[in-house]
Amino acid sequence: MATQENPTEKTLDQLGAAQPEQVTALFAEVRRKFDQNSAAAQDEPAFKEFRDSWLARKSGILTQITDNWLKPAKVDLKRVVGQELNALKAHVQEIITQRESELSSAAGDSVSAAERIDLSLPGVTRPIGSHHLIRQVFQEIEDIFVSIGFSVAEGPEIETPYYNFEALNIPEHHPVRDDMDTFYLDLPKGAATPLLLRTHTSPVQIRSMEKRQPPVRVIAPGKVYRRDNPDATHSFMFHQIEGLAVDTDITFCDFTGTIEYFIRQFFGAGVKTRFRPSYFPFTEPSVEFDMSCIFCGGSGANANGTTCSKCKGAGWIELFGAGMVDPAVYGFVNYDPKKVSGFAFGIGIDRLAMMKYEIDDIQVLFQNDVRFLKQFP
Ligand code: PHE
Repeated sequence: MATQENPTEKTLDQLGAAQPEQVTALFAEVRRKFDQNSAAAQDEPAFKEFRDSWLARKSGILTQITDNWLKPAKVDLKRVVGQELNALKAHVQEIITQRESELSSAAGDSVSAAERIDLSLPGVTRPIGSHHLIRQVFQEIEDIFVSIGFSVAEGPEIETPYYNFEALNIPEHHPVRDDMDTFYLDLPKGAATPLLLRTHTSPVQIRSMEKRQPPVRVIAPGKVYRRDNPDATHSFMFHQIEGLAVDTDITFCDFTGTIEYFIRQFFGAGVKTRFRPSYFPFTEPSVEFDMSCIFCGGSGANANGTTCSKCKGAGWIELFGAGMVDPAVYGFVNYDPKKVSGFAFGIGIDRLAMMKYEIDDIQVLFQNDVRFLKQFP
């Protein structure tokens, strides 16, 4: 049986092969065995064992055939043994090379299968966020004013008393400072000037006029700070948009026309406006602008006859301070008060946003609660 199973361990003589046809038949047998072995060696370790059993230099089957069949062959059989052996070697080599490349690309396939990304799967969505309501309202207001010729200016949130007060005609012991004196910065002794968080955006009026000659038409959005205790309508930090228009021929009519245009654009055509006398050191005359209450339509009463809680029955809601620029202010920026005139206003943004979007507590604007913010995508 051993002879049968492993003929390559014997010589041709021992196998009784004396005719070329017998040699050819033996080679055909070996080849069949090789093809069978190859088909059986499916995974990587089995393939390696199979390959070595055929090609190993010392004990591989090809070496055995060379040593046992070719070398001792009788002269008349040598030729056919040589030819058959070469053909067998070529076949073995070809199949093994082919199988090697199949196996390595199969291995590659399984790696990429594990790492493959399915682009059709829904991804992990990250919330992108959106502009804060205050930022959106700034944008709405900026768009309205830019469309009628204003440009947007900015100023620092940390100001000197000169810009925040003095140049706005609020000298050191003026009583309005009582309302406004605010957060001063702790500075090293000998600092050139005290510094404070600005109490309004009006300093940007001065900074804008210092930078250019009339005509000036700017709006200045930003944060302002006051020593207020937080409650539903007060915050120590809030937002304003300052407006300033200065030219050689600006009248009170330009002023009211501009404001009315803005309010109708922002709140809708049905809204009425009015102004009342007021006082600011940097405007003369000064006014307070009101608009008809958008909650009760200006009647002061709800549909069921009860008093409107938003305007407390007045039918009007106080909106913001404004006025014609006080000539004294021009003196601080080297404008000639005899030649120029203009108007200024300072709109509280948080207020406006609360009104337009029916928010009854200013604090929610600053708490960053996503449930609130999501309502204004
Ligand atoms: N700066 C004033 C305030 O904060 C508002 C204002 C601005 C008034 C411009 C008149 C002109 O109260």
